[in-house]
Order: sequence, then C-alpha cells, then structure tokens
Amino acid sequence: MKTVLINCSPKKRFCASQYFLFLQKLFTGGKKVSEKLRNQADHARILDQLKDAQTVVFCLPLYVDGVPSHVLRFMEEMETFCRQNDIHLNVYCIANNGFIEGRQNEPLMQIIENFCSRAGLIWGGGVGIGGGVMLNVTRIVFEIQIGLLVLNTVLSVIQTGVLFPKDLWIDFGENALTLLFFNLGALFYFALMGAAIRKGSYLGKKYTRILIPSFIFILFADIFFIIISLFEGGIFRGWLAKKEPAN
Ligand SMILES: Cc1cc2nc3c(=O)[nH]c(=O)nc-3n(C[C@H](O)[C@H](O)[C@H](O)COP(=O)(O)O)c2cc1C
Repeated sequence: MKTVLINCSPKKRFCASQYFLFLQKLFTGGKKVSEKLRNQADHARILDQLKDAQTVVFCLPLYVDGVPSHVLRFMEEMETFCRQNDIHLNVYCIANNGFIEGRQNEPLMQIIENFCSRAGLIWGGGVGIGGGVMLNVTRIVFEIQIGLLVLNTVLSVIQTGVLFPKDLWIDFGENALTLLFFNLGALFYFALMGAAIRKGSYLGKKYTRILIPSFIFILFADIFFIIISLFEGGIFRGWLAKKEPAN
C-alpha cells in the first residue's frame, strides 16, 4: 500500500507542516512517499506519484480561513488528472493554523471534501490543529535540548568522568515530557489517522490544539511575534514605518 504525503507549506524550512508530517509518518504503515508542493514546478512530479498510490495526505497551513492559493491551483490540476486516469484515491488532510482553536480549519476541511466529491476521490477526513506555530516551536526547543544534553554530557565526562549525570537527565526528562504533553492532542489524532489510512476507513473531521490554556498561549504568542517583528522589519513588521510610494 502506497501513501503519498504532501507538505503543502510554501515555506522552504522550519514549517509546521513538515513537523506534523514527520509525526504522522510514525503512525503510517506501508510504503510512504514524501512530497513538497510549493509551486507549479512540483505538479507533474507529484501527480506522477499518485498514479500507483492508494492514499494521499495533504498537510497544509490555514491561510485566511481557507486553502493557500498555490494548493488550490494544484487541486484543479489534480481533479482533471484523476478523472482522466480513473484514479480514486483515499484523501486525508492535516491542517494547522496560527491561532489556538483547531476548529478554525473547518472551512478548509470543507473545501478539501468538496474537491474530493468533484474529483471522484474518497474523502477520509482530517485533523485540524490550532497553535501550529507554537507546536512547531516545541519541536525546535526539543532539538535544542538534545544538543544541550549532548554538550553537557561531554563536559561532565571531561570534568568528572561521569557519563550519565543524574540531575542532567532528570531535567531533560522533565522538559521532554512537558513538550510531549503539549503535543498529545495532535499525536492522538495522528494515531487514529494512521489506523484509518491502514484500513482505508473514514476518520471524520477531528480538531485539537496545543494543550495549554488560552491565556498562556496569548501571552507567549504576543512575546513571540514582537521578537519576530523586530527581526523582520522592526516593530509590527514595519507597519508603522514610513513607506516609499510604489513605482
Ligand atoms: C498569508 C497567511 C494567512 C494566514 N491566515 C491564517 C488564518 O486565517 N487563521 C490562522 O489561525 N492562522 C493563519 N495563518 C497562520 C498559519 O496558518 C500558521 O502560521 C501555520 O502554522 C503555518 O504553517 P506552516 O509552517 O506549515 O506553513 C496565516 C499565515 C499566513 C502567512
């Protein structure tokens, strides 16, 4: 059984969709092919992969309460391609958004469901994940923690000769479990989607989010975006800066 998993984020690196697809692959059996959809140049290659596949998983960000425009263009071409080649794949979707409520992905799910109906494909349902940016940050924090653990272990061996300094590992374990907890909602539904893909069954539309209270999310999101703004054009991304008229 072949599953094509398409990362539909237009970002080149560090996108949340890549992280979620990595997790989904852990729960998906059979042959897995990873694809990246960023522009028109990717269409032919991905469509070719669909010819002998049974399942396709779209993993995409929510843009203005809908599907990003470059993905819509691909879906138009895929509709014609599937009709012409008599292809009837199972289609699943992982959508993530910046705000905290995963349910905001409902219109996007509806668009993919309508697409399936028009293209003669089998809609298998999907997972909508709120706080996608912040969950992606938990992955980056985890990678940094692994780096620090390795560094501190090396220092500990050099300074004291101890390979497993207990306090270091306890700290690492506590931090890792906290980050894991934030991701539990998404992991639960990825496991269910993996089972649905295996059986070719209908998952339904499931919604989850980063597992932290909303008031903490807002606080961290505000701090995060102020820092990002400072790096990308000044406070509020340069919205308040004097603009030169466009030619
Ligand atoms: C043009 C644009 C529109 C967006 N619209 C929404 C939106 O309507 N609702 C929302 O919660 N997040 C919105 N976001 C945030 C993205 O959904 C969020 O950053 C997501 O995690 C990006 O996923 P990626 O890293 O896989 O590309 C928007 C982001 C961009 C760049």
